[in-house]
Amino acid sequence: HWSVDNDVNNLKGSVEIKEAAQKLAAGELVAFPTETVYGLGASARSHAAVQSIFKAKGRPSDNPLIVHIARAEDVNNYVEEVPETAWKLMNSFWPGPLTIILRHNGVLSTGVTAGLSTVALRMPDHPVALALIEASGEPVAAPSANRSGRPSPTTAGHVREDLDGRIAGIVDGGATGVGLESTVVDCTQEPVMILRPGGVTKSQLEAVVGQVDVDPSLQETAAEEAPRSPGMKYKHYAPEAPLTLIDGDEAFFHMCITEAKDKGSRIGVIVDKKEAADVEADKTYLLENSDGETVARELYAALRYFKKEDVDHIFMRVQPEDDIGFAIMNRLIKAAGGRILSRN
Ligand code: TXA
Ligand code: MG
Repeated sequence: HWSVDNDVNNLKGSVEIKEAAQKLAAGELVAFPTETVYGLGASARSHAAVQSIFKAKGRPSDNPLIVHIARAEDVNNYVEEVPETAWKLMNSFWPGPLTIILRHNGVLSTGVTAGLSTVALRMPDHPVALALIEASGEPVAAPSANRSGRPSPTTAGHVREDLDGRIAGIVDGGATGVGLESTVVDCTQEPVMILRPGGVTKSQLEAVVGQVDVDPSLQETAAEEAPRSPGMKYKHYAPEAPLTLIDGDEAFFHMCITEAKDKGSRIGVIVDKKEAADVEADKTYLLENSDGETVARELYAALRYFKKEDVDHIFMRVQPEDDIGFAIMNRLIKAAGGRILSRN
């Protein structure tokens, strides 16, 4: 296997992309950057290639994959019909961090759709991803390029940590931009429904199609649920050391750290660098800023930063849930397995 750096300004003729594209067309697994997270690509038409994605990731086979395309009109090749609302969303947000669910026409591997009657489609907004998909001539099935259950990769190094030796190669396009996965929207119904919050926010969607529903299972707010014990369905995005979310002011955050340290635990914290000066943790990940875009971009790198040799627990404060914050908190609650410490 191999790994290459790409000069993102000079891609079209890139030999590395051509070589990676040939591997995809030959049924091999290649990881590549998108604007959200790195994907682990395989030809969505090859049943064997798709099966090897599930094997490399250790992913349960009942979890369907997103099919990545380089041209919006290619959706017509894989679905029965494209409702007006879906076109509006594609026109507004593609290429970009939006995945749409439509009824498929049966041409793709059943492994991709996990036997469902629908398929997830996305046109990513990244020059490397688009050039690779185009050059392969294939629809590219790509889940996030992490071992199942781990935080998604936002650098080629993260992919190597998880999948080195298990895949044919990595195309290195540097760090991804959004940092969280795409928003998954079910377009088989009106109004459309958000199944997974992500890079495109609910209000951005509403500005284009009016009412947008949200899957009821995404509605519970962290505060109402706290504290709760880890559930099987939350085994996602898990860092090596357990993450606990702290729901309270700065004083409460400090108190939680002090109490845990007094009990002999080594504590890692993820904080905005402006707050860092007075935090006494054993290991600290400094976020460049506290706005949603920055937290989203750095979150998975932050979760991967803490190794179990270094800390026993990771603490991070609950984040605002507006706009991209809805996706941030969705990932954080899962990463924390539901562990939230509240002041009340
Ligand atoms: O940003 C992203 O979406 C990244 C990059 C690589 O494009 N990909 C990604 O893939 O996050 P993955 O496999 O980690 O997440 C795909 C999500 C899963 O929650 C899956 O259950 C859902 O999409 N999904 C796929 N097909 C579906 C379908 N037919 N119906 C409902 N949900 C579906
Ligand atoms: Mg994933």
